[in-house]
Amino acid sequence: MFPIEKIREDFPILKRTVNGKPLVYFDNAATSQTPKVVIDAIVNYYTNYNANIHRGVHTLSQEATDLYEQARIVLQKHFNAKHAYEMLFTPGTTFGINMIASGFSNLLKTGDEIIVSALEHHSNIVPWQMLCEKTGAELKVIPMNEEGSLIMSAYDNLLSEKTKLVFCNHISNALGTINPVKEIIEKAHHVGAAVLIDGAQSTPHMKVDFQKLDVDFYVTSAHKICGPTGIGLLYGKKEWLEKLPPYQGGGEMIETVSFEKTTYAGLPHKFEAGTPNICGGIAFGVAVEYMNSIGFDAINKYEQELLKYGTQELLKISGVKIYGTANKTAVISFNVANIHPYDIGSILDKLGIAVRTGHHCAQPIMEFYKIPGTVRASFAFYNTKEEIDVFIKGLQKAILMLS
Ligand code: ALA
Repeated sequence: MFPIEKIREDFPILKRTVNGKPLVYFDNAATSQTPKVVIDAIVNYYTNYNANIHRGVHTLSQEATDLYEQARIVLQKHFNAKHAYEMLFTPGTTFGINMIASGFSNLLKTGDEIIVSALEHHSNIVPWQMLCEKTGAELKVIPMNEEGSLIMSAYDNLLSEKTKLVFCNHISNALGTINPVKEIIEKAHHVGAAVLIDGAQSTPHMKVDFQKLDVDFYVTSAHKICGPTGIGLLYGKKEWLEKLPPYQGGGEMIETVSFEKTTYAGLPHKFEAGTPNICGGIAFGVAVEYMNSIGFDAINKYEQELLKYGTQELLKISGVKIYGTANKTAVISFNVANIHPYDIGSILDKLGIAVRTGHHCAQPIMEFYKIPGTVRASFAFYNTKEEIDVFIKGLQKAILMLS
């Protein structure tokens, strides 16, 4: 039995009301909620350990450094990276993607090709367009089909010795589609291309094994996986991180500095200039440990039950169209007849129900379906079927008001 009652007790925010109604939080793909153990870690850090890391002989600095570096090891173990120094702390997924795009700006030239998928978030499109503008490389797109899956035969045709980089999200934020990243990586490696996977939507739902995937770069954000905002992870294979130039110059990323010549520090410090989000890094580790204490198999099984129930109940409502029906995580992106998603979202909010509406930073997907946007209900392991019932009732009410 999934211990849902006990789990809900871990999240103080789930007790609050919104507009006089109990909160039903179905915007987990945008950001997840924070369990007490993570909130406590943040309070504990600022109450007891607040100090700058890697640069103090004093006790507080050493304690903070130990906690921060322990968090890196928690992440290394969780994602099965070969080395802890391959795990770089960043301010978030978008930042990590931009770091890699910047790193490749001296490695690409006219005639090279970069492949992205049609299912990308803007953060995995725009940095590559900017990189193409800078280098003369060309951007190619793996197309999608009606069910929201990538057309893999088209990917095969796009790959060639010109391909230098491939970028794909593990899971689409707008539709929830789980992409065949292992196959994408294998095929890219076959032509000698490096692969970056955007794991912002996968890491909250599944255990990802970097060595098994043989991925070159993998990025994610702590706030999607019960951690705080402003902290993320960029994993890079040692060989790549050694090859790429530092992203920023500053303190902490150097070995020696003189006006004649500066030498850079080893990994991970070469990529971590300046004072990092120390508390965020520590809390990220605590969040991952919390998720593991529940177990990703149990989380995934429970969320799939929510997805099945939510889909079944939603499809009973006349005029509902769900976008993305492929193998997916607990995300339901939908519209009702020709009611604007924003109107539905606003009425649901009055009823205490939080969903995201709009293009979900994935305008090409909306363009594919020829719609302005969708209503997106994204579930987490602390949601319940009873909340889905409240959402369905609220939706019926909204439809009545808007028809
Ligand atoms: N990328 C986040 C989302 O899908 C913000 O809502």
